Amino acid sequence: MSAAAERLHLVTRPGHPTFLDLPWHEPLETWEHERIVQVTRGIGRHVVRFVNYDGALYALKELPRRYAEREYRLLRHLAEESMPVVKSVGVVTGRGADLDAILVTRHLDFSIPYRTLFADDGGEELRSTLLTALAELLVRLHLTGFFWGDCSLSNTLFRRDAGGLSAYLVDAETGELHPSLTDGQREHDIALADEHVVGELLDLAGELERTVDLDPVETAAELRRRYEATWDELTREEVIHPDEQFRIDERLRRLNELGFDVEEIALEAVPEGYRLRLDPHVVEPGHHRRRLLMLTGLNAQENQARRMLASLAAFRARLEGEDGQPLPESVAAYRWRAEVFEPVVAAMPPEALVNHEAAEVFHEVLEHHWRLSERCGADVGLEEAVRSYAQKTQAASADAG
Ligand SMILES: Nc1ncnc2c1ncn2[C@@H]1O[C@H](COP(=O)(O)OP(=O)(O)O)[C@@H](O)[C@H]1O
Ligand SMILES: [Mg+2]
Repeated sequence: MSAAAERLHLVTRPGHPTFLDLPWHEPLETWEHERIVQVTRGIGRHVVRFVNYDGALYALKELPRRYAEREYRLLRHLAEESMPVVKSVGVVTGRGADLDAILVTRHLDFSIPYRTLFADDGGEELRSTLLTALAELLVRLHLTGFFWGDCSLSNTLFRRDAGGLSAYLVDAETGELHPSLTDGQREHDIALADEHVVGELLDLAGELERTVDLDPVETAAELRRRYEATWDELTREEVIHPDEQFRIDERLRRLNELGFDVEEIALEAVPEGYRLRLDPHVVEPGHHRRRLLMLTGLNAQENQARRMLASLAAFRARLEGEDGQPLPESVAAYRWRAEVFEPVVAAMPPEALVNHEAAEVFHEVLEHHWRLSERCGADVGLEEAVRSYAQKTQAASADAG
């Protein structure tokens, strides 16, 4: 190898540290640096460690240069396609004779590895929300033409999302990008996911040293069923009779409810009427997120956004009822953010926002409001719910501390 190729080479993206103060010439495993932090993580093949730059955490993964550069590119591409993936930040090469490259990704804040989820709770609800999130992630990746090749619970991170979970891809090393996937490629990817999930769930009971109340084979089969149901809903063809135009609206509404936008509908005349076809390329996830962002400027995950839009709709209906006249949506959105969302978040003690995003805390306050009101048999008011939620969080954190 030439001397030039041996020189340390860092490629990083603007808006992040340069990472020049880290001991790149030592094997990652042996680093004893003040920036190193311990973070709960899943298992994997490579050495993965985390560093802290003023509260922003980064994951460092040591792997051969070819794979590091490939994963960096794939993650960037998927992020540009608005896929839920960890953000790739850089690649470091030329670290010295026997050292592999290091891929730097931004640690996904508020993310939870599946083991931690199961350690806290192993119930039916977790199983269901986890499978829904993972199946949707796989469908989304497949819609964009990405063959994962290593879909597993360890290669996925989860974030709480208004009572459910959102799944993020963390390991793209084996992935391939295609213009679109054939049914055979999708089947292959699901078969791999199936096999990995069964293995991971079989190991889980042993690792947690307690029985886990779920059947690994049945759970993996359920993942496949959910994947197929979602894929079918998004892409199936149907024949619409000329007097059944409403069925087109129905289908689109159902897709919106599932969180997808449709950019284009193709109708082709057939003897019985029209064949409605949705090209996977024109079905885009993130319907509620996009609407919320457009209306309020707030970024949230899909279920959180759905929840916030429902709160906004109720707020708008109330104002319209009081004034007796329609209120433009953009005005209602502006006022909802200033009068409902921001005050709720501002009233939270810092403890409430340590482990949860603002959007998730807002969701929890709404849930709390609903439960309190149900218990009292009457609406206790949002302000009272906010006060009581804040108190509850402070008490819980005092107990824990
Ligand atoms: N950006 C990140 N944010 C949060 N956790 C991460 C990140 N990158 C890696 N991890 C954790 O490290 C584990 C291993 O990373 P992964 O990319 O799957 O490496 P391997 O190739 O060794 O399987 C993951 O399961 C995850 O828990
Ligand atoms: Mg992995």
